[in-house]
Amino acid sequence: MHAIGIDIGGTKIAGAVVDEFGAIIRSERVATPGDPQLLEDAVVAMIESLSANGPTAAVGVAAAGFIDAAQSTVYYAPNIHWRNEPFREKLEARVGTSVVVDNDANAAGWAEFRFGAGRLVSDMVMLTIGTGVGGAIVAGDRLFRGGFGAGAELGHMRLVPGGIACGCGQHGCLEQYGSGRALLRMANEIADAGGIGQSLARVREEHAALDGRLVGALIEEEDPGAVAAVRQLGHWLGQASASLSAVLDPQRFVFGGGVAVAGELLLGPIREAYLEHLPARGYHPEPDFVIAELVNDAGVVGAADLARVWVEDHA
Ligand code: BGC
Ligand code: NA
Ligand code: ZN
Repeated sequence: MHAIGIDIGGTKIAGAVVDEFGAIIRSERVATPGDPQLLEDAVVAMIESLSANGPTAAVGVAAAGFIDAAQSTVYYAPNIHWRNEPFREKLEARVGTSVVVDNDANAAGWAEFRFGAGRLVSDMVMLTIGTGVGGAIVAGDRLFRGGFGAGAELGHMRLVPGGIACGCGQHGCLEQYGSGRALLRMANEIADAGGIGQSLARVREEHAALDGRLVGALIEEEDPGAVAAVRQLGHWLGQASASLSAVLDPQRFVFGGGVAVAGELLLGPIREAYLEHLPARGYHPEPDFVIAELVNDAGVVGAADLARVWVEDHA
């Protein structure tokens, strides 16, 4: 039976009816309202509209926050105004279907593992590079959730003691050095410094501020300043991957999110920093580093599949 997947991002809410092979049958998207009540209303409206064409097994909702083991409550969302938000209960009271709430990166990672870049391995780590840095761990063919449900928050590993303040309340998290926002900070610093930052500075001048799209366009042109910013980002992501290797020993690292368009320009520096910082370097088999395959659809496809799995497990 089909299932519905909803992916709540910082800028847009994407929803889709997905079949059991991960194929999208129908999809919709709207801008994410800033107000939590309007956000809930928008999700309900989308579920109702996607349900109109026939019965679905369940609804999976992927959200950018720490989720409990019952897949019901968002404990905390660093970049959305949710604190102990009983999102599942609220949605189930309004739509007539089972709802399962999952972490957005877990959903994306699960989709890559089942249907995308992680299909051929048993152990993979995914990092999603967006407003925040999301993490998903598949270990021994299973999605790792942790004891309280909120594991695999890889963006909040401490990378720099006493480093930049993070939305989670701590300092020096990977999220502050490896996210899309971090890339913009680096691009601005390079623009300020002149030299290879000339084009970044010019584009910033023309558009009042740099954003992901503008920097992305310069990356595609292989502008030296933009490439240097991607290198810095990759350097941090590679260091974090080296530590993750020591803990999880995955065969494959998958990188998703907007920055993934940089492709080899991002993967090259990641690989380099990984090899440089790897414990037991030279004596540890080398995992591969790849870009996500499902890119924009990973969240909805994974959320729908995890909801289907949940319903089967609880039947
Ligand atoms: C949140 C995660 C989320 C990630 C990507 C982080 O700030 O803590 O729950 O997966 O951003 O959206
Ligand atoms: Na996660
Ligand atoms: Zn943090």
